Amino acid sequence: MSSKLVSLFLESLETSNFLFHVFIIYVFSFVGFFLVRFTFRLKPWCNCDVCVDFRTSSWSFQYNNLCDWYTHLLEKSSSGTIHVHVLGNVITSNPENVEYILKTRFENYPKGKPFSTLLGDLLGKGIFNVDGEPWRFQRKMASLEINNVSIRSYAFEIVAFEISKRLIPLLEMYKSNGVVLDLQDVFQRFSFDNICKFSFGWDPNCLDLSLPVSELANAFDIASKLSAERAISGSSLVWKLKKLLNIGSEKRLKEAIKTIHLLADDVIMQKKRNMGSFQSNDLLSRFMGSVDDDKYLRDIVVSFLLAGRDTVASTLTSFFWLMANNKKARDTIRQEADKIMGGNQDFATIAQLKEMHYLHAAVYECMRLFPPVQFDSKFCQNDDILPDGTFVKKGTRVTYHPYAMGRMEKLWGQDCLEFKPERWLVNGCFKPENPFKYPVFQAGLRVCLGKEMAIMEVKSAALALINKFDFDVVSPKQEPIKFMPGLTATLKGGLHVLIKERDIQ
Ligand code: HEM
Repeated sequence: MSSKLVSLFLESLETSNFLFHVFIIYVFSFVGFFLVRFTFRLKPWCNCDVCVDFRTSSWSFQYNNLCDWYTHLLEKSSSGTIHVHVLGNVITSNPENVEYILKTRFENYPKGKPFSTLLGDLLGKGIFNVDGEPWRFQRKMASLEINNVSIRSYAFEIVAFEISKRLIPLLEMYKSNGVVLDLQDVFQRFSFDNICKFSFGWDPNCLDLSLPVSELANAFDIASKLSAERAISGSSLVWKLKKLLNIGSEKRLKEAIKTIHLLADDVIMQKKRNMGSFQSNDLLSRFMGSVDDDKYLRDIVVSFLLAGRDTVASTLTSFFWLMANNKKARDTIRQEADKIMGGNQDFATIAQLKEMHYLHAAVYECMRLFPPVQFDSKFCQNDDILPDGTFVKKGTRVTYHPYAMGRMEKLWGQDCLEFKPERWLVNGCFKPENPFKYPVFQAGLRVCLGKEMAIMEVKSAALALINKFDFDVVSPKQEPIKFMPGLTATLKGGLHVLIKERDIQ
């Protein structure tokens, strides 16, 4: 019996030894494959000025953020396009190139595999992360729903409730008590509540600071941060290896994604159980009519959470930073609101918001200087030449850069760095710009689906708070602002303010 046990033990040792060798060979071939690919696709040895500055990070002596350095390089470039060879990345601020990539030759510039691999674990086959037929199907279905009048008024009701019953009461608590509040954190909670209710019909109630932080919000924070970090780790080799070994950040990412998926699955299950008992207007309930695969449903909705959460919070954060530094613009917004709302109404209706051209212009001007999505990349399918003559080799990453574009003298004139809502007004009426010159919501075939909803949400919240409170920014006081690396522009350290009752002279 014991000899049988010993031989079994030796056998199992041999098997595990064999498996271990297979594993090691697998890991090394994996590393080797990516090293060879990395060396040939990119040019890690490139010694041009831009690549040397990038590699040595010497740009950071002069610029607070990578996007400020790119802005400087793009402003200097006669074509408005640069090539960072070490990253295999063509970056452009030229509106003609942007139109070409996002519309004219749309099929040649998909998001591509490198992008979908980065976010694939979190977003699966959701709209944000796919190309081709799966994208077309979801785009068609989602546009039909989002443009529906009843879903738009549902979105407005959600936002109005969140502002009047949660956001304003919360700020009232902090008013004149000398306690500094991080507005960025508040806006992230605010927009997460809104997008969860809109997409899932589920309320995480993140603005109730007495409740523990929502598990979903927390997991979502971790997952989007760590997925973005994958993108900035010079080579994908590092994160892929960590994922394979299930260690460090990849282990934490896996756990966060598991939490998101479990919670989302739970919401879907409950919805299915309650189907038919009452009518829901949220996106999930609407998609359930056309999709019966639960995993696919979950992916679709998680994409919406990612798209709609931090973007709105980012806009509101920079808007209040700008308002604190531009009191004249803030006063003009108040005057416009008094004229349209008559001074004794707390909350603007959709129709009244539409009439507020100056407020609309101020929001657009805010996103010109501080676009929530600072840059966005596609991957070239076949060799191509951009309208400005730049040759793009198959497989190259091509990035359009709304942050840099908003700060180009060629595009916006000598006063391009100033906050001037007036530049958007003609005879007092808002006049939109060419979307390829202002691709803040992307443009062309994949233009943001939540644009109207986002603008309504930002205008409603901004106006409600400006009408009621005065804000003193404690930090950061002046430009240059420092951003955190991530999928959406987030202020490093937050936006710290003291809140007072509005001073009505
Ligand atoms: C100020 C707020 C917002 C900004 C600046 C913004 C910007 C963008 C940008 C730049 C893209 C293209 C991203 C890419 O393809 O990689 C995009 C796509 C998208 N956005 Fe937004 N977004 C905002 C709010 C929202 C909201 C609130 C929703 C949801 C209700 C939303 C839903 C989407 C969806 C579904 C897509 C994917 C469209 C597609 O691939 O066809 N966005 N958005």
